[in-house]
Amino acid sequence: MTTVLDVQRFKDESRRFTMLTAYDFLSAQILDQAGIPILLVGDSLGMVMLGYPTTLPVTMDEMIHHAKAVSRGARQALLVGDMPFMSYHSSTEQAIESAGRFVKEGGMHAVKLEGGGRIAELTQRLTGMGIPVMGHLGLTPQFVHQMGGFKVQGKTEAQAARILADARELEAAGAFSLVLEGVPTAVASRVTKSLRIPTIGIGAGPQTDGQVLVFHDFVGLTTGKAPKFVKRYANLADEISRAAQRFSDDVRNGTFPGPEHEYTANGSTPHAESKRDEVKYGAG
Ligand code: KIV
Repeated sequence: MTTVLDVQRFKDESRRFTMLTAYDFLSAQILDQAGIPILLVGDSLGMVMLGYPTTLPVTMDEMIHHAKAVSRGARQALLVGDMPFMSYHSSTEQAIESAGRFVKEGGMHAVKLEGGGRIAELTQRLTGMGIPVMGHLGLTPQFVHQMGGFKVQGKTEAQAARILADARELEAAGAFSLVLEGVPTAVASRVTKSLRIPTIGIGAGPQTDGQVLVFHDFVGLTTGKAPKFVKRYANLADEISRAAQRFSDDVRNGTFPGPEHEYTANGSTPHAESKRDEVKYGAG
């Protein structure tokens, strides 16, 4: 199983690595078996799974629901639960309780928190209790209203210096890794070189230690013009749409279900080779 020590080793041995978001049992199982070392149950699920315009409405209960499904599907990956907006903001006690729920109920191995400053203190408290923390700086979606939109951060020297100072503070507080989102390549490179812990970039150029993508972007379930930082490795939206059309056509013209999909009164299918008499959802 991948641990936080392995993630540090990736950086120490200059091995670039991947992280993907996962929100459900089956996709977690597929990504885990494909060897993705870190799966993040991101609060991006609010946007890509639940249809909210931002991540802000996501609740801790929603995160736990998805975290449980992911932890049932993954065996090898390091599982990181993303602390949603207002689950760690009102007090240290609240933050500890939320992080604890991710580990105890959700089966996560670590948590991710957005921001610098006071997050450093929380990082120290949580790591001191045995809950590893992944930091998140740059374009932090929970600050969307403060940032005036989903905008690239760190474009001025002052902003870049702030990100670097926050990154160093998080590292000193015990964070095991740091997501850098939506920052110029030069800023990500500077932070990556300054830190001992690995950085994981999204919209941060090629010089971070790892790269993360949101699952629905990565498999092309999101449609339309993708943001610049996204690479679609498949086109599942088109594939699903074509499958839906073929299904409708088959039902309309009577070619589905075929004999191989039928049950007979004596319990076996008309197809001699088919032993699939179990009535159960999902294969495998
Ligand atoms: O919520 C999320 O999926 C994230 C990643 C994009 C890093 O924070």
